[in-house]
Amino acid sequence: MSAHGTALERLRILGIGMGPQHVTPEVSDALRECDAVVVFDKSATDGAHAGHDRDEQMAVRCRIAAEHGVPVVLVPDPPRDRRGPSQSTGHEYRRAVVDWHGARTERILAGLRAEAPAARQVAILAWGDSSLFDSLVRLAGRIEQQTGCDWNVLPGVSAPQVLAARHRVVLHRVGEPVHVTTARKLFDDIAAGQRNLVVMLTLPHTLDDLAARPELDDWQLWWSANLGSAGEQSLSGRVREVIGDAKVARETARETDGWVMDMFLLRAPDEHGNVL
Ligand SMILES: C[S@@+](CC[C@H](N)C(=O)[O-])C[C@H]1O[C@@H](n2cnc3c(N)ncnc32)[C@H](O)[C@@H]1O
Repeated sequence: MSAHGTALERLRILGIGMGPQHVTPEVSDALRECDAVVVFDKSATDGAHAGHDRDEQMAVRCRIAAEHGVPVVLVPDPPRDRRGPSQSTGHEYRRAVVDWHGARTERILAGLRAEAPAARQVAILAWGDSSLFDSLVRLAGRIEQQTGCDWNVLPGVSAPQVLAARHRVVLHRVGEPVHVTTARKLFDDIAAGQRNLVVMLTLPHTLDDLAARPELDDWQLWWSANLGSAGEQSLSGRVREVIGDAKVARETARETDGWVMDMFLLRAPDEHGNVL
């Protein structure tokens, strides 16, 4: 046993897509080699989840671990400091995120010390893929610094990939870019000239915010909620034509699954009014 009190030799960050049906053979094989899977439990600690939607992601991670016969080390997710303005940039915000990553790292190591001190190979499961709006790669870097462990990443199917597949679209026009952003930054990004955006980390009021922008009425929306789950919903069309239905469908997804996560592709028409 080392100075950090665990036998950790290798950490694996494994992308699991939107659920067990997306777990690749590569991820499956890697998972079977692991002695433990660390799963964060947001339910008790995170104000963003407590009392709201069921933590579906935790349930899915536990199910995948069980299907691969790997024991779960459940770790309470430390609360993140969400005080202050709803900005997603700036020194204070970044400081809060860095502190949160530090606290999460401590919780992982404490969980392993308490429940799986002999585990040499440990997995953490990334929802979708760890390359988008996910902190696991950053946590792995910190854990390496503290323990000297080796770590690697295996990709999963990301939510934008599933969205594109469901709507049978390419995320950008021929030879053009796509801008991936958050709902908090959406209108700043549009003001800065973005015309083709994948929007994630939506908020309960994001569809209302869209509806309140008449300048976006003719933009095309490809919207989906709960991709990969029983309550999955998808709608596409001009914003003004589909936004009301999307709001209803969002509630249907929540009622069916007990939680809701949604995202969309939003594109301005070209000079001929075309969106494809
Ligand atoms: C923290 S990010 C994680 C994304 C993930 N790393 C990926 O590869 O897509 C979560 C956001 O992704 C989108 N998302 C994740 N899962 C989704 C799903 N099943 N259906 C619709 N949107 C989803 C939502 O916008 C959600 O707020």
